[in-house]
Amino acid sequence: MRKVPLVESLRIIGRGSLNWLAQRPIVVSFEVTDACTCYCRHCDHGGPRDESHNLKPPDYRRYMEALRPCVVQVSGGEPLMREDVVEVVRAVKGGRRPPYTILVSNWSLMTEEKYLALRDAGIDQFSVSLDFPDERHDHFRAYPGLYRQLEDLVPRLARLGHDDIVLNSCITSENVSEINAIADKARAWGVNLCYSAYSARRTGCRDLFPGSPEQIAELNAQLDRVEARRDPTNWIVNAPTTLEATRRYFASGGTPGCKAGLRFLVVTAAGDLQPCSMQFHRFPLEKRELMASEFTSSNQCGECYVSIRSYLDKSFPRLLWENVSGFLSVSSSEK
Ligand SMILES: C[S@@+](CC[C@H](N)C(=O)[O-])C[C@H]1O[C@@H](n2cnc3c(N)ncnc32)[C@H](O)[C@@H]1O
Ligand code: SF4
Ligand code: SF4
Repeated sequence: MRKVPLVESLRIIGRGSLNWLAQRPIVVSFEVTDACTCYCRHCDHGGPRDESHNLKPPDYRRYMEALRPCVVQVSGGEPLMREDVVEVVRAVKGGRRPPYTILVSNWSLMTEEKYLALRDAGIDQFSVSLDFPDERHDHFRAYPGLYRQLEDLVPRLARLGHDDIVLNSCITSENVSEINAIADKARAWGVNLCYSAYSARRTGCRDLFPGSPEQIAELNAQLDRVEARRDPTNWIVNAPTTLEATRRYFASGGTPGCKAGLRFLVVTAAGDLQPCSMQFHRFPLEKRELMASEFTSSNQCGECYVSIRSYLDKSFPRLLWENVSGFLSVSSSEK
């Protein structure tokens, strides 16, 4: 994974440290639309939605000025469904860096032209969902032809050499035995890979949660092999501690100590603040501190270990260290 240059790294770290002390969020996820091109089995989005209340590109500046996150996710729904997504990204970036900005998308609507325009607008990382290393991906997402589209586009755009594409694979009971086959695909396509963990909270479906002793044994065997495949290029983007915590999450059926609403939060398509994408307690931008005092301080939910959490449950020194030695530019020998 491409490392962020040193000066930029120091800016991101500086802003992150200030936010940590000021109790402002480190990561903000903008769900720029609720609509989606897919109907995935593990998700509560899917299909068309009322888009008339969506924030407009200039509205995003107000959120960025108030929240000042050092990492932003542009997500959804499917963010590429917005015809003005490039303007949204430009407004989020405001011509400045930080924030380090990640586009989280299924790439059903991605083209080379859009990829280049989004890079130019300031996307630092393209996170592309992949649940299976073949056409089972289409069935899981109810989108015929999606796998073929990725198989064509991902390696082609990777060959442009920007090293900013990361496959994002959500581990479920259905793909737990495919964890290394998905890693093979990332290798073959010349891109990076990040695993995340299924939560039943979105849909209530427990069947997709790999919690049986056999599934946990398979998960551990697969992740042992992943650990053995790390190399200095940082192509496995999850820190080792994150994959360890992912194992514990599946084995115990949850992870306590969530900081949603304080260290990270979601801005909905219509502009409300939510602690996370699966908690629908909504607050206006001006009442962010109320969210931390009313929700975060008494939150007992430990029902997910999605990546936004996995970055931010750690102590501040650990978080800094992992980002400095992983994403950002200072190299390290400890991994
Ligand atoms: C909600 S989607 C939004 C962006 C885009 N539509 C996509 O699929 O990449 C973001 C990520 O959440 C993951 N996801 C969906 N449902 C989930 C669940 N129940 N538990 C954990 N992750 C989930 C998806 O696989 C995807 O990688
Ligand atoms: S995971 Fe992404 S692509 Fe699938 S339904 Fe949810 S928002 Fe849409
Ligand atoms: S564990 Fe935290 S981030 Fe996950 S669903 Fe619960 S409140 Fe949201």
